[in-house]
Amino acid sequence: MKHAFLGMAALVVTATAVNAAEVKPGDVVFNDGAVAMSLTGAAGNADEGYKVVSSKKKGNCIACHSNDAMPDVPYQGEIGPNLAGVASRYSEAQLRGILTNAKNTFDGTMMPSFYKVDGFIRPGKRYTGKAADDTFGPLLEAQQIEDALAYLMTLK
Ligand code: HEC
Repeated sequence: MKHAFLGMAALVVTATAVNAAEVKPGDVVFNDGAVAMSLTGAAGNADEGYKVVSSKKKGNCIACHSNDAMPDVPYQGEIGPNLAGVASRYSEAQLRGILTNAKNTFDGTMMPSFYKVDGFIRPGKRYTGKAADDTFGPLLEAQQIEDALAYLMTLK
């Protein structure tokens, strides 16, 4: 029993350590629209990033951007530029900045701010006339941003 408890305590400590490395949406440091530091403190996974970029349930990037490297994904949009060769046009830090909050790079763009939780006009709490609980997360998690970035970096 005592051992089980110690095991649990160790787990909690590990989880906290992982979270501590994550940069919260309000704490991201932009430099001319670019973000130099990984939001998770680690490199992302390009295979997971492919899913974030192509999936309508995740980043839904493909609704606005076509991508020559995803010929099998149907219904690619033409609102933003084709993502082909994007890693030759931008540095990793610039792409992280665009993914985190594109408005800091492209003034007034219709590309959503994927890692942002304040400064929006929020809907109220249903039928109460009160403010909503503060439970809105960003559109993408820090890990998903880093994964999408790792994928974009393959598009040379
Ligand atoms: C609602 C449409 C929309 C969505 C969704 C969207 N974007 Fe964009 N994106 C744009 C537009 C429009 C631009 C061009 C910037 C501007 O407004 O001038 C852009 C620009 C970019 C650029 C710079 C491209 C270049 O060649 O200059 C990158 C990279 C990018 N988006 C990646 C993404 C990724 C990755 C996602 C998904 C996580 C995403 N976008 C989702 C609309 C969108």
